[in-house]
Amino acid sequence: MAKKTISPGGNVSGVVELPGDKSISHRYAILASLAEGTSEIRNYSSSADCLSSIECMRKLGIQIDLTKDFVRVAGKGLDGLKAPKRALDAGNSGSTIRMLSGVLAGQNFTSTITGDKSLQRRPMRRVAEPLRQMGADIRAKDGDRAPIEIHGAKLKAIDYTPPIPSAQVKSAVLLAGLYADGVTTLRESVRTRDHTEITLREMGANVETSKGEIRIHPRPKLQPRQFIVPGDLSGSVFLIAAALVLPDSAIMLHNVGLNPTRTKVLDFLISIGASINLASVQLRDGELIGDVSVRYAPLTGGAISGPQVAEMIDELPMLAALGAYTEHGIEIHDAQELRVKESDRIAALAAGLQAMGAKVTEYPDGLRVEGTSSGKLRGAKVDPQGDHRIAMALAVTALGAEGDTVVRDSECVGVSFPEFFTTLDKLRDAEARGAAAT
Ligand code: S3P
Repeated sequence: MAKKTISPGGNVSGVVELPGDKSISHRYAILASLAEGTSEIRNYSSSADCLSSIECMRKLGIQIDLTKDFVRVAGKGLDGLKAPKRALDAGNSGSTIRMLSGVLAGQNFTSTITGDKSLQRRPMRRVAEPLRQMGADIRAKDGDRAPIEIHGAKLKAIDYTPPIPSAQVKSAVLLAGLYADGVTTLRESVRTRDHTEITLREMGANVETSKGEIRIHPRPKLQPRQFIVPGDLSGSVFLIAAALVLPDSAIMLHNVGLNPTRTKVLDFLISIGASINLASVQLRDGELIGDVSVRYAPLTGGAISGPQVAEMIDELPMLAALGAYTEHGIEIHDAQELRVKESDRIAALAAGLQAMGAKVTEYPDGLRVEGTSSGKLRGAKVDPQGDHRIAMALAVTALGAEGDTVVRDSECVGVSFPEFFTTLDKLRDAEARGAAAT
């Protein structure tokens, strides 16, 4: 098991080209497979999760070629998938298993989908429930866990409001809606990421949205497309945080996805004092993209709760950890969802930060991380519990500690951002190179 040693200090500076957004890459792989012809996707995420989506689609009979410059998907139309010979393996990827379940529910064959140990612990009833209402016969282990056996059926259109805001569940229902006998309606109280709706529209589907209501018309002929995946904003947040931990930092991130359902994290950081500027913002393939520049600035701290939780769900570990570098700390509530992510993120983060000397209070639905007045952090051996976002959050936290930190099992960052440590090292080297030149 690989470990990564983080020596603190210095700053980050330079320009970064980010790998493609994980959420968008999944959707492009799945929807391009259902299109009537060949799509080409540039800047597809290099993450293990997005490779799991490609592998699953291949097992469903879709030819997908990975070239140096793009991923080529030979879509076979809505009814072109074939029954897989064995159980599909979604690896660590909640997006793959949940979104693909929606597609599989509409097929005229039976399939099983499962994943690694972490994925087998995560709740699946939330996706099985609406798909059952649509008419699919779905059997999950203990009613709520993978492996999930999906007996596809002729689906009925439903009007559904997920009890917990979730873009994955919303997407599963919309994808199943492609196969339904009428218009499927999905209602959400908090606007979660809308890449599925955007991609469907870009490919010619009829998707109407107004005031928290999304309606998908069935059986579109999805058109193949050439897509360029925007840079991954959720991954970039770890680099942005590094610039906010290390004084004198200044970084610029190119072509980052700036979809408004994803940027609440930037609004929050700005509200607590971060110096973040956007430039060259434009619309490409239905998604906003632009350049993000960040300069070090002291942070005041603040609270996150209610709808903000779903809007910043993947960034909460990093935001909580940043609390140790703020004046008043960061407190998060209403975030019990964090306990059923790739790890129990509240417990994993609290343990890692406490090992570094941070003062942390754990709540059933969140945590509080005290600010700088509770003393400087110290390097420690930390265990991210196999969770990519915890590993990156702890590594960035270590940059401002006293002494080295060793992150166990550091290769788990490959689940979303395999280039994370090399990118961080390069931004830190840039400083060393600059210092050597002066
Ligand atoms: C995702 C949605 C979120 C997020 C996950 C990716 C997506 O999950 O945590 O990393 O791509 O739709 P939920 O929809 O379960 O909140």
